Amino acid sequence: MTEILWEDRYAVGHESIDAQHRRLFVQLAEAAKLFTGRLAKGDARGAATIDHLLRELRDHFRFENEIMRTRGYPQADSHRQYHAQMLTAYETATERLLAGADGSAHFADFLKQWYYHHTSGADINLGKWLSLNP
Ligand SMILES: [Fe+2]
Ligand SMILES: [Fe+2]
Repeated sequence: MTEILWEDRYAVGHESIDAQHRRLFVQLAEAAKLFTGRLAKGDARGAATIDHLLRELRDHFRFENEIMRTRGYPQADSHRQYHAQMLTAYETATERLLAGADGSAHFADFLKQWYYHHTSGADINLGKWLSLNP
């Protein structure tokens, strides 16, 4: 798998969103190592890492959803749906891994969506719209 790394060109131009994205890229890289295999029984640290990421993702999506709602973003509905789809893929990957199964395919699916959403897709559009409609 290619390295999961934040790059400046991913910046959407909203301070809080960019700070969250930067942090999430670091956490994603950490979690990705665990999803390459199966989680050893009793690996509490590994389980905590992927569970922590799940909570951070939920918080991040909730944060963006709230901004879109309060600012009246016209593409909020489809953007919210992308968040829900990403979360489902990550949740499925997590459930599998915690059950001692292979979650790599679902994680790869999540990651593909994540990269598109955050590097050339919906978040870039949201950032542009927020700066044009202060
Ligand atoms: Fe988003
Ligand atoms: Fe985002």
